[in-house]
Formats: sequence, C-alpha cells, structure tokens
Amino acid sequence: MALWFGADYNPEQWPESVWEDDIRLMREAGVTVMTVGVFSWGLLERSDGEFDFAWLDRVLGLLHSAGIGVDLATSTASPPQWLTAKHPEILMVDEWGHTLSPGSRQHYNPSSATYRRYACRLVQKLAERYGSHPALVAWHVGNEYGNDNPRDYSDETAFAFRTWLAAKYGSIEALNDRWGTAFWSQTYSGFDEVLPPRAAPTFRNPTQLLDFDRFSSDALLDCYRAEADILRAATPAIPVTTNFMGLFQPADYWAWAKEVDFISDDAYPDPAVVDSWKDAALQRDLMRSLGEGKPWILMEQATSAVNWRPLNAPKRPGQMRALSYQALARGADGIMYFQWRQSRRGGEKFHSGMVPFAGTDSRIWREVVQLGHELEQLQAMEGTRTAPARVAIMIDWDSWWSIEQDATPARVDYKALVSAWHSALLDHGIVTDFAGRDTDLSRYDLVVVPSLFVATRATTDALSRYAESGGNLLVTALTAVVDEDAALSAGGYLGSLAATLGVRIKEFAPHPIEEPVALVGEVDARTLQWSEVIQVNDAIVVSRFSGGMADGGAALTRRTTGTGKAWYLAADLTTEGLRAVLEAVLRETAITPEVPGLPADVEAVRRGDWTIVVSHRRDSVSLPVAGLDLLTGGRVSRPVLEPFGVLILETAVSI
Ligand code: GAL
Repeated sequence: MALWFGADYNPEQWPESVWEDDIRLMREAGVTVMTVGVFSWGLLERSDGEFDFAWLDRVLGLLHSAGIGVDLATSTASPPQWLTAKHPEILMVDEWGHTLSPGSRQHYNPSSATYRRYACRLVQKLAERYGSHPALVAWHVGNEYGNDNPRDYSDETAFAFRTWLAAKYGSIEALNDRWGTAFWSQTYSGFDEVLPPRAAPTFRNPTQLLDFDRFSSDALLDCYRAEADILRAATPAIPVTTNFMGLFQPADYWAWAKEVDFISDDAYPDPAVVDSWKDAALQRDLMRSLGEGKPWILMEQATSAVNWRPLNAPKRPGQMRALSYQALARGADGIMYFQWRQSRRGGEKFHSGMVPFAGTDSRIWREVVQLGHELEQLQAMEGTRTAPARVAIMIDWDSWWSIEQDATPARVDYKALVSAWHSALLDHGIVTDFAGRDTDLSRYDLVVVPSLFVATRATTDALSRYAESGGNLLVTALTAVVDEDAALSAGGYLGSLAATLGVRIKEFAPHPIEEPVALVGEVDARTLQWSEVIQVNDAIVVSRFSGGMADGGAALTRRTTGTGKAWYLAADLTTEGLRAVLEAVLRETAITPEVPGLPADVEAVRRGDWTIVVSHRRDSVSLPVAGLDLLTGGRVSRPVLEPFGVLILETAVSI
C-alpha cells in the first residue's frame, strides 16, 4: 500500500459533470486514497428503508478506474432529516433539558436504541454492497465521535446510565457507599432514582460526574463498536478505523485505541499561532503512542484556513507542507485533508480544500501537487517507525475529568498542563511518547507524571516499581489526590507514592496568579498558582520556595529509590521553569536530543533510516547538520533552511 494522500471527498455536493474533472485533478495531485461518504446518509437512504446506492457505485467506480483506493465511511455521523422527523426521541438533550434540533450534524443521542438500529441497518447494507469492491482499502466508522454530541442527558440516557451503573456496582448500597451519598442527603434507594448529572443548583456529586464522563465515553464507543462489529464480520480483511481528535476530553482514547485496526487523527493547529506546531507535535506523539508505535494516518488537516475559529488565518506558504512532514516524521503513513473540493454551499464553504474556490491557478493547489509528488518519492518510508522515544508523559482521562470539576482547590486546565510539559521537552529537542495507566513503562528512561489527579493503588505502585527498577520518575503536584471513586486518597495525598518520593503533603497552598512564588536552589523558577507545604521525610531538597505560604519549604525534591530516582515537584511553573526542572532531571539521565543545538522552532525526528528536520520558523535559519537530502538528492552541510523548510536526511550527522 502506498502512503495515503487524499481527502474527504464529497462529490454529492456537486453535479456529476464535476466528477470527471475531480478524478483528473486527483491524478495530477498524486492522490492515492479518498474518504467517501462521511455525511451521505440522507442521500443513501432517501426515506425509511429506501436505499439509493447508484450514485455511490459511480463514485467508487470512477475512483477505482483511476487507481485510487477508497476509505469508505459508514455515513452515520449525520442522521437524515426523515429519521429525526419520524423519531425525534433520537435527538440530543443537553444538561438543561433542551432538545437540540437537527439541521447541523451529529444531532443524535449515542445511547438511542433507535439511532443505533437505523445506523446498523445502513452499515449492513454498505458492507454487503461494497465489502468486496476492489477500491475498498478501509472502513471509516462514523466521524469524530463525540465532537458535537459528547454528552446526552435525556431519559433514554438515564436508563442506559443506570444499566451501566448496575453492572459496575452490583447493588445500590455499593453505589451509595462509593459515591459518598451520605453527603447532602443524596442516598438512593434504587437504581431507578439515579439520573444523569443534569443542571443543578450547585455542585453535583463528583463521583456521579466522573462515572457519567466514563459512561459517556463508553456510550460513544458502543456506537462505534456496533458498526465495527458488522463490518468485521462481513469483511475480516478490511481494516476499520474512526478518526480521533488529538487530546479530546470526552473520549478516553486509551480505551478507544484498542478497538480500531489503525489509529487515525484529525489535526487543525491554528496557523496564526506561532507555537501551534507544538500542539500538532503533541497530537502526532499521542497518536503514535495510542497505536503503540505503529504508523497511523493523518485523516484530516486543512490545506489552509478553517471556518470555525473567530478568525481563520490561512496557512503561510510552506506551512502546510511543514506540518505534513511533521506528521510523517512522528509516524504518519498518510496525509489526508478535509476536504477535496472547497464547498460552494453549506456551513463549511469558507473552509479550505485541496481544490480551493480559486481553482487550480492558486498557491494552495500548487502546494498540494508538490506535496503529492514528493510523497511519491518517499514510499520507502511507509510502514517504518519513528525511533522509540525514551521519555513518556503519563496522561489519564479519569484525571482530566476529575481535576476539571467544580469544587477543587484550584481551577486546572489539564490539557494546558500536559501540553506545557510536552512543549518543554520539545524545547529540549526530545521526542516524547504518551503513556497510560496500563502502559509498560520499563522501556522509558524518564516518565513525567503531570497532575495524575486520580490514581489507584495499582497505578501508584506501578510508578514506584518503575523508579525502583532504574527509571527516572518525575511526579508533579496534584497527583494521586483522589482514588478511582474521587474520594481523597487513603493515607494522604500521593497515596503509596509518598514513600517512593520520600515526602508528605501537609497543605495545599494555591495562590493568586498575580502573586507568584519563587523557587530557589539548584533549579530557579517561578510558580503560576500552585505551591504546597510538604514535609521531607527521606529525599534531597533540590529547590525551596521563597515567599508565599510555603516559604522556606521544599519545592523540588529527589530521592534515590532502588536503582532509579524519584522527583517530586510541589508547584506548577512557568514554561521556563518547566524547562529548568527538566534540564536538572535530564542531566541525571543519558537522554540527548536527536540533533543537538537546533535553533528554536526547528524539530528533528528520526524515522526509519531518515532524520526529518522541519522548520516552523518564519525566517531562514542555518542548521548544524550534514547529510544526504532525500528530497533533492544532494548532500548538504550547514544548510540554510527557508521559512517552513524541510530536510529529509539519510545518514545525518550533527556538526
Ligand atoms: C472536522 C470534521 C470535518 C470538518 C472539519 C472542518 O472536525 O471531521 O467533517 O467539519 O472538521 O475543519
């Protein structure tokens, strides 16, 4: 299979006369795969049980005759209008009890049995009709599950939630105990009294909220699974996927990743934000990690502007290419876009496409064609892997859900926190994996654990074992604050990690952001809003707080445990602070950057036999490398890379 290069193709928005032209242009651009039918339900099933596949037959036939593979979508992301008119009970209900109207997309309750029944009937038909089509290369189930319908609060959901809870707890007494319903008179006498956490006068039960987040991710996953099961039974040899959305809070992608045959992802970094290449890098690293290092597909990106930000800046010349190579370097086996031809009508007509509204005499089209042809030269990269990372950041959806609830010691933006650590590692030139609670950590030299708010005894023990057996463990504030029931950790914050780290937390001391506290010592830094009063039982104090409630107390500690080291950071820090902490930690390890001495906003990642160097800078820059550039076939030494320039070096050396 060639590297994927293509887009969401929505020919149903165009007269058939345009289709021939589409195919001609696809050939010109070097397109290899197209995703078809993502939102086509209403045209495939015009009314209840009346299917019309003739137009889709023609589309697939045309693509096949041009040698283009088809990633066939199941079309279930947007239920048709006749279905919601006939069965309004499938519509979503928000936490205030408002029913959301059809007329956009994803206007369904994931727990609706009627929605699933209709969706599965369509999927069965598609599997029967196209399962042995020679163009079919993959099934694309739904689209971006949960993007527009993350949580539903209807009566049907209440029923499904109760069933989920009964399976989890077994008895209402167990639920009462673990939800702590003795508080505020919340005791239930039967599961039928339990509701989704709808809008309420004040704080809702934190365990109910956490369980509802878990349930809602599972409900979406059940929808995906119902369709995937049908497809797998019909076509066991065709891989099944659904497109993820990076660090997306409503869906616990550690659970989802187990259910797809390959990982695929949609990424829309904001071209107007200079640093957004770092968000994109995070997303790529997450996808590679979810797939345990296997190649993944960039299923959607924009050729230029999107239409859904308050201000939709275009990608600069070269920026789309640079971000595409970033994805390739970090493990992608395909570069796909939303969408092929910019729409003329509908809510996305201002969104860029491979064929822009301006037509083919345009910068965007030329950049698309250039990339398509370059990828043809890079086929050897397909199936190879990004070099194994030596550092991992642990992320966990339970922690994300729980730490962002109301009534906590401080508002924490979990995604921003995780991104800050990932960025700080990027700034050191280090490629990072993500790890979940169940990831085998032994392959990493360093594991960073940012605010793992929810932790079970099994997780804290696994982290301790990792450090004892030679790992470098960096735990940060707000870790193991609560257990899996959102109850404060037994035996004190940090749970069993307290012994490994050699510290005990006596008091949380968050402070206004306008009153930062300094860290002084081996590492100098500044807090944002968090400090703690900790007691050091058995650890070296690396830095102390100067000022604030914890004045003079330990802020950063290190303890040797077994053959490894365990660090504790009792603060949140500015970006420079995180970088400084990492510098101290990395000094104790053998971890080095891929290419040392790179200028800011230039990344270098090793994949297969190549070192891919990508500049995200808006100016030219000279690089301390030499090697054979695969794209030009020429040898380079201290090359000057143009804005958003790319090098793919064989036998790269740092000079
Ligand atoms: C994605 C979605 C696409 C399209 C795109 C626009 O979220 O999957 O269908 O809407 O955004 O950026």
